[in-house]
Amino acid sequence: EAGTRRQLIDIHEAATQYFEAALKAPEAARAREYLTGRGVTADTIAKFRIGYAPDDFNHMREQLAKHFPDEILRTSGLFSAKEQNDGGQGQLYARFRKRITFPIANEQGKTIAFTARALDAEDEKGRPIAKYLNSPETALYSKGQVLFNLDKAKADIRTLGFALLVEGQMDCISVYMAGIKGVLATSGTAFTEMQIRLLSRFTKRVIVNFDPDTAGTTATEKSIALLTEEDFEVKIVTLEGGLDPDRYIREQGVQQYMAALRNAKRHSDYLIDRAREQFPGRTSDAKVKALNFLLPHIRRMPNRIQRDEFAADAAQK
Ligand code: UTP
Ligand code: MN
Ligand code: MN
Ligand code: MN
Ligand code: MN
Repeated sequence: EAGTRRQLIDIHEAATQYFEAALKAPEAARAREYLTGRGVTADTIAKFRIGYAPDDFNHMREQLAKHFPDEILRTSGLFSAKEQNDGGQGQLYARFRKRITFPIANEQGKTIAFTARALDAEDEKGRPIAKYLNSPETALYSKGQVLFNLDKAKADIRTLGFALLVEGQMDCISVYMAGIKGVLATSGTAFTEMQIRLLSRFTKRVIVNFDPDTAGTTATEKSIALLTEEDFEVKIVTLEGGLDPDRYIREQGVQQYMAALRNAKRHSDYLIDRAREQFPGRTSDAKVKALNFLLPHIRRMPNRIQRDEFAADAAQK
């Protein structure tokens, strides 16, 4: 069991190196152009060990099979198996192809999974393809138990006394490279109790900066619920112009982004503002709806003084 785990860690390191090397090969010219176009520098590529999964079903398996047994290849999540009519074990092929690869590391900085971004929105036949493809759940990796960048950010989170939480890997990488190092990504939108427990070992103060769209707003409200219930102090940033942190930094600059962070709202103020946006006007119907939206959030606050203060603010506004 321990030996298997070791080998799974080793094959992920080998895969990380394989993808890093592939990004330097002539076939990866478009991938490099894509990254340059997004402002991803050589420094960033090296620091986050960004790579490229070539447009090839077999080559990576052929390479890794020289060093790892079939069972490890099969359980690594790096490959998919062709379906067999007889239910037998099918031939393995590369799960990630023609994609930019981002290693997902554990707290110790060892790669345990990948997320991989498509270069195009559609395949050769014009069918839409998933923007990001992730490793499946394996013995090493469970999506809901990992926070992207925790290995690099944990010391800074302790020093700063808070963590900045964003949705996407690219957001996290841009924010980190801009010098704001206590940043983590949830990798999508759902923030889980396991992630909160993990985070609570480093800080109990969080600034949430999810995308300013419907999915991001829903995820923000859900995260507020989970975090405040665990007695976290939560602040919320909403970026102007519908930009996510990555695009905001590129279009508005780091100083402007830092200003947005300084203007983060206390979660109670954020929610009261949300209630007023959703249920405008001074009619009793609007007030009832606004309070119905806020009450579950108010009730969840474990601290009596904060709960009373939130309730008083809500009533007053
Ligand atoms: P977004 O759709 O906001 O993507 O998803 P993004 O991070 O801004 O991506 P870019 O800038 O276009 O490259 C946020 C996160 O949700 C997960 C990824 O972790 C992504 O970073 N996601 C998104 C997936 O797992 N699969 C998807 O198809 C899309
Ligand atoms: Mn080949
Ligand atoms: Mn998003
Ligand atoms: Mn986004
Ligand atoms: Mn983005």
